[in-house]
Amino acid sequence: MRRKLVVGNWKMNGNRATNAELLAGLKAAGPWVAEVAVCVPSPYLGDVALSLQGEAIGWGAQDVSAYESGAYTGEVSAAMLAEFGCRYALAGHSERRAYHAESDQAVADKAKAALAHRITPIVCVGETLAEREADQTAAVVKRQLSAVIHTLGHCISQIVVAYEPVWAIGTGKTASPEQAQAVHALLRAQLKAATEHADTMKILYGGSVKADNAATLFAQPDIDGGLIGGASLKAGDFAAICRAAG
Ligand code: 13P
Repeated sequence: MRRKLVVGNWKMNGNRATNAELLAGLKAAGPWVAEVAVCVPSPYLGDVALSLQGEAIGWGAQDVSAYESGAYTGEVSAAMLAEFGCRYALAGHSERRAYHAESDQAVADKAKAALAHRITPIVCVGETLAEREADQTAAVVKRQLSAVIHTLGHCISQIVVAYEPVWAIGTGKTASPEQAQAVHALLRAQLKAATEHADTMKILYGGSVKADNAATLFAQPDIDGGLIGGASLKAGDFAAICRAAG
């Protein structure tokens, strides 16, 4: 049995006061059967690391540089994150692919850099509405994951995959459990062709997950938890989603 994982992606939200309130609420609401983590904006990594010391809630970054060090203004390296005890780093979130022109290969390189410092990359894949309507969903997610498989080789078994249909992110339009499961099964099959450990790998669903739809999504055989945006900003909502994964 794969243990479920629920990750909150705060995106570019919050401040020190609201972060402290949110984390206090989460600490009071846990522990959960599922593994739980939050991915926070870079300036708050130190605060969050301190606040979550000794807690059953992990934390991660929302991005990581593909480069080890050097003249890359604005970038944060995996070594820097690892120094704080960072457990996860998102790689290839659709907002970064869209607004920062991150290619499939750039995303794969970021995943590799994270793994080199024992940070688990959560590699995001997903199709746009136009791609879904053109029946391109399978081809798009396969292409996105394939770059990571080729770059990581046998280390692919150490990543977490997140399927986030772009049309479901922040729109209130969740993929139905059947739609999501169908894509997760495709991704699992692709991983199976690359590693004998595919059955132990986690594939998360993200896109308008809320307390009232989480349980049916998480009940699907290949959905191993969620990557939660908006609903991760309120302790009560996020805690309810974490409970639904238990
Ligand atoms: P929402 O849960 O706000 O739709 O965001 C999903 C997401 O992008 C998580 O990474």
